[in-house]
Amino acid sequence: MKSKFLLILTGLAVTLLVTAQTNVIHSGNDGRSWSLVTRSAVYHLNINPQENVQMVYFGNKNQMERFVNGLGEEIPVRGGYTPANRYEPAAPMIEVIFPDGVRDIELEYKTSEITTIDGYPALKIIQRDKYYPMEISSFIRVLPEYDMIEKWVEVTNTGKKGSIRIENLLSGSVFLPKDVYELTYYSGVALQEFIPQTAKLTHGTKTIQTKYMKSYGSSSFMVRPEGENDPYSGKVWFGSLRYTGNWRVDFEKYWNGNVQILGGMNFWDQEVNLKPGQSITTPRMMYGYTERGVEGVTMSLTSYTKEKLLPAVHRNRVRPVLYNSWYATDFSVNEEQQLALAKIAKEIGVEMFVIDDGWFKGRVNSQAGLGDWTVDRNKFPNGLKPMIDKINAMGLDFGLWIEPEMVNPNSDLYRAHPDWVFHFPNRQRHTQRNQLILNLAREDVYQYLYTSISALLKENNIKFIKWDMNKSMTDPGWPSAPADEQRAVRIRYIENLYRLVETLRKEFPDVWFEDCASGGGRVDLGMLSRFDFVWVSDNVDPVERIFMHDSYLTIFPANTMVSWVTQANNHRRNTSLEYKFDVSMAGVLGVGYDITKWDNEQKKIATDKIAQYKAIRETVHQGDVYRIVSPYEGNRSILQYTDKNKKRAVVFVYHMAVYPINTIDETQRNPLVKLRGLLPETNYRIEGINNTFSGKYLMEAGVEFPVRGAYQSRVFAVNAVE
Ligand code: DGJ
Repeated sequence: MKSKFLLILTGLAVTLLVTAQTNVIHSGNDGRSWSLVTRSAVYHLNINPQENVQMVYFGNKNQMERFVNGLGEEIPVRGGYTPANRYEPAAPMIEVIFPDGVRDIELEYKTSEITTIDGYPALKIIQRDKYYPMEISSFIRVLPEYDMIEKWVEVTNTGKKGSIRIENLLSGSVFLPKDVYELTYYSGVALQEFIPQTAKLTHGTKTIQTKYMKSYGSSSFMVRPEGENDPYSGKVWFGSLRYTGNWRVDFEKYWNGNVQILGGMNFWDQEVNLKPGQSITTPRMMYGYTERGVEGVTMSLTSYTKEKLLPAVHRNRVRPVLYNSWYATDFSVNEEQQLALAKIAKEIGVEMFVIDDGWFKGRVNSQAGLGDWTVDRNKFPNGLKPMIDKINAMGLDFGLWIEPEMVNPNSDLYRAHPDWVFHFPNRQRHTQRNQLILNLAREDVYQYLYTSISALLKENNIKFIKWDMNKSMTDPGWPSAPADEQRAVRIRYIENLYRLVETLRKEFPDVWFEDCASGGGRVDLGMLSRFDFVWVSDNVDPVERIFMHDSYLTIFPANTMVSWVTQANNHRRNTSLEYKFDVSMAGVLGVGYDITKWDNEQKKIATDKIAQYKAIRETVHQGDVYRIVSPYEGNRSILQYTDKNKKRAVVFVYHMAVYPINTIDETQRNPLVKLRGLLPETNYRIEGINNTFSGKYLMEAGVEFPVRGAYQSRVFAVNAVE
């Protein structure tokens, strides 16, 4: 009775805290329980009488009293016994082998602290093994306005001798209360990135992961009670990992009905040996809870990425209109032809002219040159500088493609340092696209790449780098490293990748960095905190892109989504230039055509479209995205972008193939479209529809947008009438 009363009081206190928005971490009077409060949720944990730190509840903040006993350990370990999960021990976040061969861990609570990390409140809890010298600090950072918490751990060998072998170490775990759940995540392959997948979580484990350092999907996920499918309301637990390289997220469904979600680095073929005094800190795993359906997930994840994660120097800047030469000139680049392209690019309104692959020494095709990051004098006898000067004189900034992590066996670099690539002795070195991966875990490789890229940036006025990565990890051997370090190679590789990008960015702060891995093969919140945008896919078919954009925009912000208008025709589907522009204008607009072949009419269309884009791009880049109609539901897609002050919106309407009238339900669909996120009492004018409407009317009654026919599209500016 007493404890129930206390819990009600705690619940009350939590509600007050939310209202005041002052204190988001509330510690119980005895110092043995905590409530972490976001806008929609509470995360509650306590210390049980056995001195184990337990996760009690994560979800709607008014329901916490039902879960007093805890759903599982805050840091589930290999070993011991978990009363909460009597028949099926929880999946461990950490698995180690102590120097004497003991493999079980027994943790007990030591201390805790409420602190501030990067401007947000965080709870730090320290636990220790009862016998062995291992300390685990776990962190939960609370991001109330984004409805998210961030979890990570730091493990230290506090002993004097002997290494602790870490066989598995994840960033975080949460338990969802008993229910029947459905998981949605995004997966894919080159040219088919970000395909949504939905699966019911039945008893057992569902894992999403990458083992080859590329993924074409995302560690982002959403879990909803089965049947709660409204896009704008209903409970969703969601999350994402702030890490590149190999990652995994496991969804464990137990017979007691609970679901555990745990994620972090993928320890497949990986181990870390912690020597006395050494620590390892995991990447951060984001967990969120909203009751605003998938739309709530989008708002939380994309706003957080846009406002807090993206590199600060360019975070609030509108992205330039790009030209990229890849589809126009392939590997056969030269000064005269690039200047001809740049001249027309400038005429139609492009701001950043980027030369893709083919410009560096020996790069006649994909079989040679990677690794030698100096200009090819056969193609550019005068070097890059005179050409860049001319491009700058036209009023364009200049950018360049590089693929630093790779090397062709046919290159000066490989001939000089064949031991710099990942390899195992006595084993074949497997190429993909004729290339091998440099072992960036090595300091000499890091220094070589740093020196070559910084020289390139120092000697030339380069304002944009497209950073590509085209090979999946094979042959992950590092024979020259001490035996107990060899299987940590992927961790060291990513540490040095991050360090390289961060060092270059610090030294060259006004350069934009684009993340590419054969398209969207390496998109995650780790990369997005170091890169400004992403080349989402080499599939530039506008219809396929409509689907990809819908998925991408569900989890990532529009100002990171680069999309070009090109002549490449993946599906021999003829779509108009206007349609292609309308699709690419939904993110960071680029042009990839051989524009020297354009006639005046094509140039005019491009000029008008780029001008239209410039007029709306601030809203596209900085606004909130609402997926009004998903292409996965029919043969059209409608996206709405709205400024934070809700006074300006842009609506993209795309039709895809059109069915003959009355042949299927799709053709009988109600044509009225309801907008979202406007001010009900404010009047808006929709450009192209000669009328004004109140926000309430647009959101509740809806209007019919005048777009008819197959592969037709329009972009409508919606502006508040002052
Ligand atoms: C793969 C990328 O995804 C393409 O966009 C292009 O940059 C090529 N590499 C160049 O080799």
